[in-house]
Amino acid sequence: MITIIAGTNRPGSNTAQVARAVEACYRRRGVAAQVVDLGLLPAAAFAPESYAEKPEALRPFTEAVLQSAGVVVVTPEYNGSFPGALKYFIDLLKFPESFQGRPVAFVGLSSGQWGALRAVEQLQQIFAYRNAHLLPERVFLPGIREVLDGAGQFKDGELAQRLEAQAEAFVRFIQQVTGRDLTAPGGYARRYVPKLGVCSWSLQPETPEALVEKLEATGVQRIQLWLDPLREKPAVWGKAPELLARAGVTVVSGMFGCVGEDYTTLESIRRTGGVVPDHTWEQNWANIQENARLARALGIPYVAFHAGFLPHNPRAAEFGKLVERLRRIAELFGEAGITLGLETGQESAATLREFLGHLGCGNVGVNFDPANMILYDQGNPVFALRVLGPWVKQCHLKDATRTLQPGTWGEEVPLGTGQVNWRGFFQTLAEIGFEGNLCIEREAGQQRVADIITARRLVESLP
Ligand SMILES: Cc1cc2nc3c(=O)[nH]c(=O)nc-3n(C[C@H](O)[C@H](O)[C@H](O)COP(=O)(O)O)c2cc1C
Repeated sequence: MITIIAGTNRPGSNTAQVARAVEACYRRRGVAAQVVDLGLLPAAAFAPESYAEKPEALRPFTEAVLQSAGVVVVTPEYNGSFPGALKYFIDLLKFPESFQGRPVAFVGLSSGQWGALRAVEQLQQIFAYRNAHLLPERVFLPGIREVLDGAGQFKDGELAQRLEAQAEAFVRFIQQVTGRDLTAPGGYARRYVPKLGVCSWSLQPETPEALVEKLEATGVQRIQLWLDPLREKPAVWGKAPELLARAGVTVVSGMFGCVGEDYTTLESIRRTGGVVPDHTWEQNWANIQENARLARALGIPYVAFHAGFLPHNPRAAEFGKLVERLRRIAELFGEAGITLGLETGQESAATLREFLGHLGCGNVGVNFDPANMILYDQGNPVFALRVLGPWVKQCHLKDATRTLQPGTWGEEVPLGTGQVNWRGFFQTLAEIGFEGNLCIEREAGQQRVADIITARRLVESLP
């Protein structure tokens, strides 16, 4: 895995955009890569005590460096140097093993004309002092405010070409100095093929017969079942469990939605999503109790849902209210021996992890969806997976491209055509010891069966 450090914590930095462009260079080469954005460093990391005792929330950051085959440092130029946050991060890394013999490449950017030349040379001094192997091909990107299009794409093909050439050189360099070929088969995805399933709602079936037929066409015999239709239309859907069983389909998990959700815009879903709004809570609670009874009767061990936007501040009244509601739901499902997964995306992985820590319910974890991290613009999905590692109970396999306009949705696209680095994703699943199910989800487009087949084939064919 290549770990790309976006070397500043300035919100909305151009560095983060360039880091994404660098990641795309490795993705195009079929190389596992992740972006570690220093803007996501936990506040606890900045306490002076961190030199002696590393806060738990810092661990995914330091591990991302320690477990990498090579590191690309993307640095902006701040006052003729690199940002203090980057040096502080370097100083928190475990030494000597974070640096010793590790291949490192550098990309510099600035609004001025030097493209962070000094910043990169100062970094080279530090990494050389710590005995890292430095890639000679450095990339400098001057006048950065004029050359990016807002989504990490370069208007100038020549600059993009420099990053491509560096990625090419770095993969070769890593092989030369460490003997590791990052394009060779890793075999990580293969071990998860038997764990594949399909989300029933993605197939948009009108009847359980149609669900069985469409599922058969996908070549997958495991599903995550949408429970609401069974609750709302028992006359039509009551026979679903029996039909699925007869067709040899295993229901690996369930899902339920909440009433009153409006997915029109990011703002509307923020107001209406999950169990957060008060005016829909009573109805939602009634439905949830019914869903829990259904899941128990069907013997479903795991159920996922969107909790809604989690408040960031533990002292806010909203925070306590949501914790109280979720504990009630967790207890209800816990009594039925069912694990719950909160869908990811609305908030950063770090916020969700912190929230789950506060919640403190043993049967509540995460339903990790890499595409949602991109759709909601909440950070790099591969690194987010590492941050949430121990909490991840099930994954959705879905892909997406990031929005060009902050505050709007990105676009959901067929698996393998978006911005999820799938090799990095499966490698990270293996590294965090994930053993749950992976359900293919497709919520856009008019050819769901075909897209789900594409997704299955991609997972089956990943090296
Ligand atoms: C604290 C600070 C100091 C900066 N100093 C320089 C500088 O010395 N030379 C330069 O060309 N640009 C300088 N810049 C502009 C950055 O190069 C510019 O913001 C660029 O977008 C990269 O930084 P970013 O990732 O924070 O966006 C500075 C920016 C900040 C925030």
